[in-house]
Amino acid sequence: MNIINTGASARWIYTSDSAQPFQGLSPSVETIKTVCRSHHVCHRAEAAVLMTGPTELSKRNKWLGRALPLLLSIIPLIAACRRDMMNQPKAKPLSESDFFSDQANARPIPPHTVAWRNARENDAFYTGLTNGTYITELPVKLTPALMARGRERFEAMCAECHDRTGSGNGMVVLRGFPQPPSYHVPRLRNAPIGHFFDVITNGYGVMYSYATRVEPEDRWAIAAYIRALQLSHNANASDLAVAEQQKLESRK
Ligand code: HEC
Repeated sequence: MNIINTGASARWIYTSDSAQPFQGLSPSVETIKTVCRSHHVCHRAEAAVLMTGPTELSKRNKWLGRALPLLLSIIPLIAACRRDMMNQPKAKPLSESDFFSDQANARPIPPHTVAWRNARENDAFYTGLTNGTYITELPVKLTPALMARGRERFEAMCAECHDRTGSGNGMVVLRGFPQPPSYHVPRLRNAPIGHFFDVITNGYGVMYSYATRVEPEDRWAIAAYIRALQLSHNANASDLAVAEQQKLESRK
C-alpha cells in the first residue's frame, strides 16, 4: 500500500492497491496531499510527487515542490548539528592525559573497589572450577528446559564437528578438520562436568574457544546435554523404568 511511484509528469501516483487518482488530471498540491493522506501514503511519497511537479502547478506550488524535498533532506543534517554532548571536554580511555601525573587517562581502580554489576561472584559457575579442581555437579538447576536448550545449542554450535551423537564424525570433520575424540570413550565419560564447561570456555588443543559465542548459562546447558548423550550410549536395561523395561522385553 505504501509503495508509491510518480509518473514522469507526476500527473498520477500509483499505490499498490489504489487506483491512480490523478490520471489525466493536473491536481493542485493540496489535492495531492489530501489524497496522499487519505490513502495513508507516507510523506516521502508526497515529496516524491511534489518533486517531479505537475507542469500546470502554480509558481507557489512549484516552489513548494522544490523546497519541500530540500527541507526534508535537511532534517537529518539539523539533527546531526546537536554535537554539544560530543564536544564537551572529556578524557578518552587509553588516550594521553595532560592532567594526571602519569600522563594516562585510564585510571587504576582504587583499592577496595567492589564490583556491583556483572560481578562474577560464583567462580564455579563462570569457570567450572573450585579451588583449581573441576566441579563434578552441575552448578545450575537441571530442568527439562535446560536440557532442551542444551540440545538445541549443541546441535547448532558443536554438532558440525562432534556430530549429533557426540562420536566425532561431524560434517566439518568429514571435510578434513581434525577429528575430535568421541564423547563416549571412558576418559570423557569419567571426566568431571566442569571439564566440558572449561573446553567450551577456553578451547582444547586444536578446538578453539567458544566463550564469545556461547554464554555461561548455555555452556552448562550443553555440558548437561553431553552428559545425557554419554548416558544414552552406555545405558543398561536395568536403568530404565519398569514400564519401559517391560516394553523392551515384549519386543524380544
Ligand atoms: C570446528 C570443529 C569443532 C567444533 C565446532 C567444536 N569442537 Fe570440540 N573439539 C574439536 C576437536 C578437533 C577436538 C580435539 C582437540 C584436540 O584434541 O586437539 C575437540 C575436543 C572437544 C572435547 C574433548 C576435550 C578432551 O578432553 O579431549 C570436548 C569436550 C569438546 N570438544 C566439546 C565441544 C563443545 C561442547 C562444542 C560446542 C560448544 C565443541 N566442542 C565444538 C572440534 C570442534
